Parts: sequence; structure tokens; C-alpha cells
Amino acid sequence: MNSRPKMSRFDQMRAMASSMFKQRRKPNPALAISPADSDLNGKTVAFTGGTDGMGRVAVELLHKMGATVILLGRNEAKGQALIDELGSNVRFVHCDLVSLESVRSAASKVLADYPEIHVLVNNAGVNLGDRQETPEGFEAHWVINYLGSYLLTNLLLDRLQASAPARIVNVSSATEALGHINFDNLQLERNFSTGKAYSQAKLALNMFTIHLSRQLEGSGVTVNALNPGFIKSNLLRDLKGKERVGSILMLLFASPALVGADRIVRLAVSSAYEGVSGQFVFEDAARLPNPEALDDTIVERLMEVSRAQAGLEG
Ligand SMILES: NC(=O)c1ccc[n+]([C@@H]2O[C@H](COP(=O)([O-])OP(=O)(O)OC[C@H]3O[C@@H](n4cnc5c(N)ncnc54)[C@H](OP(=O)(O)O)[C@@H]3O)[C@@H](O)[C@H]2O)c1
Repeated sequence: MNSRPKMSRFDQMRAMASSMFKQRRKPNPALAISPADSDLNGKTVAFTGGTDGMGRVAVELLHKMGATVILLGRNEAKGQALIDELGSNVRFVHCDLVSLESVRSAASKVLADYPEIHVLVNNAGVNLGDRQETPEGFEAHWVINYLGSYLLTNLLLDRLQASAPARIVNVSSATEALGHINFDNLQLERNFSTGKAYSQAKLALNMFTIHLSRQLEGSGVTVNALNPGFIKSNLLRDLKGKERVGSILMLLFASPALVGADRIVRLAVSSAYEGVSGQFVFEDAARLPNPEALDDTIVERLMEVSRAQAGLEG
């Protein structure tokens, strides 16, 4: 599927560093979404992480284009504040990605109330600063940044297929290049760091994207992963110790939320991405992901583990 030569890990890291310091103050006008693609009347978008950061701005853009937006979030007050601001065609559905039970209950509400879903944006993500175990026994970065989205997508998949053409956007990160799937220590009980947990989960999301794109071939549903760029947001606010340097770099060098939001919306609706699937869009152009994501044996093994963890077997 990918004919471009593989980038070495060094090249990946260099690209990541250069993207961090390449600040863009506004969305690239040369890539603006055409008026024809901007009419989303009659379209339904399910969106996680739409209550803050770049996701909130992306929701505003999608709503302005006429889409009905389902905000899948953990904080009802923040969801309600956004609904009050935007008015009609936005609804909050409680979905705390830290809990697979919450994801299941959110998915059943969405399926009960929305006969069509044209776009699913898995945007929610965290950098927690320490190791936290969820009541269901997972390391929290793993479930919030990956497994929750994996489960949500699978539960909404039939509805997306029935609504085709449809798109799934998985918001990943440049740090996937630093990631490694630690099959013998997936929940990072040993040698934990936030960076390791976050990059492992984002790499897993890229692997899921590739796997799912194959499964969806010919279905009219596309799925891509996105590195939205280095964007000012709340993402790094909980980092501790030497990892706090990330939040200082963010203050100094990151682009405004609109830049990341524009990239999310473009991948979700622009005809420039029509039929494009299984790609890692790095800001504005497709790029090869971490070599581990191109290793079918590793991807298949991760999918088996994920199915079992999410209780999707049988
Ligand atoms: N900012 C960057 O430079 C950057 C770079 C690469 C990738 N990303 C990715 O971009 C995405 C958006 O992040 P951001 O930078 O906009 O960060 P942000 O400002 O911290 O926003 C994160 C969003 O995720 C939601 N969220 C967090 N935990 C959740 C949970 N357990 N259940 C449901 N929703 C939850 C938050 O909800 P609340 O409103 O309730 O807090 C918020 O809406 C993330 O996936 C992040 O990993 C960001």
C-alpha cells in the first residue's frame, strides 16, 4: 500500500523536531476547504475531545458548515457551555474515554438516536504526568489515547458503513515516531514515563488506522490518522519534572488552535482527501509512520490484544 521509502527513526525524530518549531500563525490558505465541501447540512459528525483545545475550534467550524455535531465528552458543564454558544444541532453525550463501560453506553445512545453518522473524529487525548490505573485495570494513557477510541470506532462502524460515504479521523501525534509497542509491558507497570505511554498509545492508534483501512476497503468509509502539528492547548498542563519543558515550548512555539482545527476539519470533509485511506497525514501531507506500524506481524498482534482488551471477541 505504501510505496514511499521507509524513514529511519532518526529521520522521523528530526521531522518531528522541525515540525515543532515551524510555527504557522494561520491555516494555510492554499489548502482552504472549497465552498462545495463546506456545506455539511444533513451530515452528522460524532466528535470526541470537542470541549476544549483544537477540538473545540474544529467543532465550531463543523457546526458553522451546517453539520449536526455529537459532542462525546467527559465534562457535561463544558459541553453545555458550548451548546449554549452554538445553539441548535449540537448535543452532548457523556463519554469518558477512561472507562470502556462509559464508551459502550455512549455508543448505544448515539446508535439509538442517530440513524446516520457520516464522520467520526477521535480527537480526545491526554498527557497525564504520572501513571494512573483505571478501575478496569488499564494504564490511563493507553485507554484514553487509544483503546477507548478503538472500541468507540468498532461500536459505531456498522452505522458509519450504512451512512457511506463516511470518514474516520484519528488524531494521532508526531510523537508516534518515538513509540514502541511493549507487548510484555503494555500497561507500563515497569519503567513508566508519560512520554513512553503517550507515544505508545499514539503509535497503536496509527496501527489501528492502517488495519481498519484494509478492513474497510470498498465500503465507502475511509480512515486516516493525523498529526495536527504543535498546537497551543491544555494538553501538556499536567506534565511534571523535566517533562514540563514541553509546556514551555508550547507557549513559545506552538501554533494557535485554529491551525490544528483546520487540519482536522480538512481531513474530515475536504474532497482533497476523497478516497484516501490508511494514511498518516502529518499536518498537511501524508507521511510514512513509525516503521513498527508498517510491520504487519506487529499490527496483527496488537489488533488481537486490542480485541481482547476491549471485549470484542466472540
Ligand atoms: N496540542 C498539540 O500540540 C498536539 C500535538 C499532537 C497531537 N495532539 C492531539 O490532539 C488531540 C487534541 O488535543 P489538544 O491539544 O486540543 O488538547 P486539550 O486542549 O487538552 O483537549 C483535549 C480534549 O480531550 C478531552 N478529553 C481528555 N480526556 C478525556 C476523557 N477521559 N474522555 C473524554 N474526553 C477526554 C478533553 O476534555 P475536557 O474538555 O473535559 O478536558 C478535551 O476536550 C489529542 O488527541 C492530542 O493528543 C495535540
